[in-house]
Amino acid sequence: MPATIPKSDFRRRRAALMNLMDGDSIAVIPGAVLKTRNRDSDYLFRQDSDFHYLTGFNEPDGVLVLAPGREHGETILFCREREARSELYDGERLGPERAAQIVGVDDAFPVADLDDILPGMLEGRERIYFGLGDHPEFENRLLGWVSTLRARESGGARPPGELFALKHLLHEQRLIKSAAEIRAMRRAAEITCEGHRRAMRACEPGMTETQLEAELIYEFMRRGAKVPAYSSIVGTGTNACVLHYVENSATLKKNDLVLIDAGCEYELYASDVTRTFPVSGTFSPAQKALYEIVMAANQAAIEACVAGALFMDPHQAALEIMIEGLLDLKLLEGDLEEVLETESYRTFCPHGSSHWLGLDVHDVGDQRVDGEWRPLEPGMVLTIEPGIYVPDSAQTAHVPARFRGMGIRVEDDVLIGAEGPEVLTTHAPKTVTDIEAIMKEAP
Ligand code: GLY
Ligand code: MN
Ligand code: MN
Repeated sequence: MPATIPKSDFRRRRAALMNLMDGDSIAVIPGAVLKTRNRDSDYLFRQDSDFHYLTGFNEPDGVLVLAPGREHGETILFCREREARSELYDGERLGPERAAQIVGVDDAFPVADLDDILPGMLEGRERIYFGLGDHPEFENRLLGWVSTLRARESGGARPPGELFALKHLLHEQRLIKSAAEIRAMRRAAEITCEGHRRAMRACEPGMTETQLEAELIYEFMRRGAKVPAYSSIVGTGTNACVLHYVENSATLKKNDLVLIDAGCEYELYASDVTRTFPVSGTFSPAQKALYEIVMAANQAAIEACVAGALFMDPHQAALEIMIEGLLDLKLLEGDLEEVLETESYRTFCPHGSSHWLGLDVHDVGDQRVDGEWRPLEPGMVLTIEPGIYVPDSAQTAHVPARFRGMGIRVEDDVLIGAEGPEVLTTHAPKTVTDIEAIMKEAP
């Protein structure tokens, strides 16, 4: 079980979900399975976020079933049985008996018996809640069990009549972070910032993007975050204009900027931070001019992160500042209204500025409710990540050479608080002065 989230939280989450479920329903939540990377090697196991949120159980092949009103227990875990030979190779398994006790569910069974046991649990329930589309193979099995029950309908079986997306119930809960979750996210953010600081100190011309990435990963791991929350982006020069660039193999040149978008995962919670800095340690006047625009956009967007503001308000604040800045530098033509109307800003500002953050880096939860942007509420965590990109391409042929071949993004993680925004990622330098200062420090 993760150290930061108490067992009582997992229990409370299961109870809250069951409270929202319609009478006569059942929820089936499969955990992650191991995936082959190549031949006998698997990808490092990462638990499914919904399953983790409700159990904290970190083995592959688990299935959680919530069956309100079930006589022999409402919360049921299916998991792998103990098996000496497998445990010799892959480590200890809890097995159903110990898992029930440690996870705190009412009942547990071997997952190998799912075909025999689960159809009986589905029988007589009107509705099944399930992560539709999230687990295609398991979904086929589930439909198979429902078909089996339907085939026995004339003999008196009562198959479920509805399959309903679990996300409408569960993801609203995941969107508002508890105190324990916020503790884990603060730690993820702190470790991530240490990684960025190390990379800034280590950066020098002639290094490769891979070597700079290694500095980050080293800092993440030595501070207890075993994996990044997503593939790290280390892009220098025009590579920074490829929004999800992960090749990270080019050599850093002294007159270029380098953009690092990387965050660690700590107890399954993500951090997501971008910093952009000059390879040489000193911004050129053109780099600084564009950078200051993105910084101002980042600040304005953070200030807009107040309870009651709408999800899109921070982005709108950032976008208007970036457009004004690009108009001042004559990279855009016209005025603010015209640029917004024609969307000509998209050449340089092609993406939004926020997404939810939590167990998933692009975390769950609707950004709109009934078609309207939803209001921000205390306990939500989102990113603020405005960016300006000037690739060295035909599209930017009209732009003076000093501005071409750079991508700048400044991304922070922000907790909506009752008293205003709390930036979780302040420890990673982002003003021109602070960046130039840390880059003078010894690695
Ligand atoms: N690192 C992915 C993102 O910023 O959304
Ligand atoms: Mn990012
Ligand atoms: Mn992001």
